[in-house]
Amino acid sequence: MRKIEIFDTTLRDGEQSAGVNLNTLEKIEIAKQLEKLGVDCIEAGFPAASKGDLEAVKLIADTIRDSSVTGLARSTESDIDAAWEALKDSEEPRIHIFIATSPIHMKYKLKMSQDEVVERAVRAVSYAKKKFPKVQFSAEDACRSDREFLVRILNEVIQAGAEIINIPDTVGYITPQQYGELFQFLRNNLRNIDKITLSAHCHDDLGMATANSLAAIENGASQIEGTINGIGERAGNASLEEVAVALHIRSDYYQAKTGLVLNEIKRTSDLVSKLTGMIVPANKAVVGDNAFAHESGIHQDGVLKEKTTYEIITPELIGVNSNRLVLGKHSGRHAFRNKAIELGFELTDEKLNEAFTVFKDLADKKKEITDADLFAILTDKQTETEMKYTLNRVQVQYGTDNIPTATIAVTLADGSQVSEASTGSGSVEAIYNTIERIFGRSVKLLDYKINSVGGGRDALADVYVRISCDGLETSGRGTAQDVLEASARAYLNAVNRILSLESLKAIQKANVSI
Ligand code: KIV
Ligand code: ZN
Repeated sequence: MRKIEIFDTTLRDGEQSAGVNLNTLEKIEIAKQLEKLGVDCIEAGFPAASKGDLEAVKLIADTIRDSSVTGLARSTESDIDAAWEALKDSEEPRIHIFIATSPIHMKYKLKMSQDEVVERAVRAVSYAKKKFPKVQFSAEDACRSDREFLVRILNEVIQAGAEIINIPDTVGYITPQQYGELFQFLRNNLRNIDKITLSAHCHDDLGMATANSLAAIENGASQIEGTINGIGERAGNASLEEVAVALHIRSDYYQAKTGLVLNEIKRTSDLVSKLTGMIVPANKAVVGDNAFAHESGIHQDGVLKEKTTYEIITPELIGVNSNRLVLGKHSGRHAFRNKAIELGFELTDEKLNEAFTVFKDLADKKKEITDADLFAILTDKQTETEMKYTLNRVQVQYGTDNIPTATIAVTLADGSQVSEASTGSGSVEAIYNTIERIFGRSVKLLDYKINSVGGGRDALADVYVRISCDGLETSGRGTAQDVLEASARAYLNAVNRILSLESLKAIQKANVSI
């Protein structure tokens, strides 16, 4: 079996998905889970993009030990310096440099000739090689590039020290057969090919990202780049869980395997979905809620007689444990702590106590507390941002013939209390108008999503919002048994994040002027 390296870009290309905006704590949680999943390399961000990005990449690089950590850089010395600043203390500092190589990108975006692009790429790789033991080079839009030019530039960057050569299908344009042929062509034409790792990076604009990645493996790629749940720019990137499970289930055909701990897939998928607010479609391959549901009578009959009639992947393979009942209202602190550890959470005593209080409160109202409920409670605690406003009370008056009215009381950071009331055309709008009044600034709601955690009438509600305020955009999440309370919590969480972003920006500005 050939070993295929997994390069996860959930925190870089995935974070570029429209509407996704993770804070540092959330990025760290995802990175830790990716390490547990066993990915070989985590692309933690784009350090030159902002000081916040650089700091997040640095924190991840300093925390993660069992996966290597990399950061993206354009082919400029300042980008490479920023990446070095972020990555120099990581286990195995590794940089990912790119420049576009297709005629369309060179002419319209870069406004550079072929010679200039080659010169810039070689200069960047040589500069990076003086700092980083491992240099990866990507030819952006490789699949729409001229093949002879691709060979020329790749040979030059290999000569300059790049060891990993990535061939991105930046716009999701190529077909599996063409992508496979391109890998064959490069294998036959690149110098020192036996010392080079060829990498595939596919986007899903035509729904072919997984198929393309697998075609690349068949034709010599030994690194696959992608994201969890396939999140990413536009239609997203290749879903790593799909590639890994396909290689596992069809190892007879591909004769290749990854080092992923497959039964960590579901937890990783749930975490990414919850923290990014990108809900996984029910029919999504491998991790969708319906991936193991057998609905028609004929299928159910078959599965009851012999599972393999209609089931090629078992839920256990990816870590689905059928949401069993775990704790009840009589469960104590000790059992709760053990369960949190079993679910993979490492919380401080203070956070654990706070989570236990939320759990006890929920256990009074909800008959069955499932793993999914605990996952929601513990994730919220683990990734909680500094709260300038804490919700004390929300009350809503609604009737089909009344104007919905919300009254909300919050505690401010200095311990004082504020309470306000407002109306809206619906209950949620009334709540959001009230919070806006407390906040005293104009806030725009860009997106609102609600999800139930597990099934049943008494299920927890998980609300995701995206807001903008004074040119800053952020998201917020809130979980509660009542949908209106969850809505209020999510909005307040987003407002708190706007304030954190503003303080971060103020600190950055002060540092720059020093
Ligand atoms: O899709 C792409 O081309 C990329 C590169 C920066 C690797 O994400
Ligand atoms: Zn990409």
